[in-house]
Order: sequence, then structure tokens, then C-alpha cells
Amino acid sequence: MNEIVKIQTEDKTKFYNYMNLKLTGLICEETDWLANLGNASALLNLLLDNINWAGFYLYKKDELVLGPFQGKPACTHIAIGKGVCGTAARDRQTQVVRDVHQFPGHIACDSASQSEIVVPIIHEGNLVGVLDIDSPIKERFDEKDAKGLEKFVGILNKYMDWSSIS
Ligand code: SME
Repeated sequence: MNEIVKIQTEDKTKFYNYMNLKLTGLICEETDWLANLGNASALLNLLLDNINWAGFYLYKKDELVLGPFQGKPACTHIAIGKGVCGTAARDRQTQVVRDVHQFPGHIACDSASQSEIVVPIIHEGNLVGVLDIDSPIKERFDEKDAKGLEKFVGILNKYMDWSSIS
């Protein structure tokens, strides 16, 4: 396996093109969802600056359950509609939260978190889970991050066999 190195760039489009290429390389010959989500969370943690948590919650029996991640131990169950993750899952829309303290119902798993982005994973019309990333600085994420991470989720969807997830 080729070693993945960090790149230094202020250009978010360039950064996400690089990270998404690396993700494709990691998962294109592997369909096991657990192996791929483990590697995907490690990749996010390795390449993104100024983050303190990156990982997945998976949709099981009408709620979100903690999946592979990097960061401090986190809450294991989130109801649909609750917190940033549950809101992204309910509305099926990416949530870019510039200040978590201003988000009604935000669930604080790590008190260091100041901003957050959550991207829903929708496969063939069905909710599979969410990608969640936290930052210890305010306004870490913007629309360019949303776009890049939605492509990241699109790559997961392209290669992954989600059928054995629940
Ligand atoms: N902050 C999230 C909870 C998950 S942790 O950030 C890992 C939320 O409000 O849904």
C-alpha cells in the first residue's frame, strides 16, 4: 500500500480533489463497509487540519448508532432529529455549523468542539448514516468543505456494499 502524505494548501478545492483521490484508492477494491469506514475516518483524521473528531454514525432501527471514527469516545445513540447529526439525517441535508453553541440541541461529545459539519449518506434513496466532523475552532467549515465532503460520501456510496450494515 502506498503511504498517504499530508498536503499543505489553502485551496480547498485542490485539497478535496487530493483527499477524494486517496479515498478512491483506498476503497475501490474493497466492498466491506466496516473496513472502508475505518480507513475513511483514518484518512479524514490524517489529512484535515484543525479537527478533533471525524467519523460515522450509521442508521439502524430508526436511530443513529456510532460507527468507525477517530477522536475521543463519543455518544453511541442519536435519535433522528436530535443534535446536528440527527438533523442532517432527518432533513437529508448537509449541516454546516459555524458555532456549535448557537445550534439548538447540539450534542457535545467533546467539550473542545466549536464547529461541526455533518453530511448525510443517502444510498438509492435510503438513509445509511452520516459523516460527522468536529473542529476545536469556530467557523472551520464552509460551503467548499460541504461540497468536498459530499463528493467524499459519493465515493463511499459508489464503491460500498451497505447491504450487510444493519
Ligand atoms: N455533535 C454531534 C454529536 C456527535 S459528536 O460530535 C461526535 C451532534 O450534535 O449531533
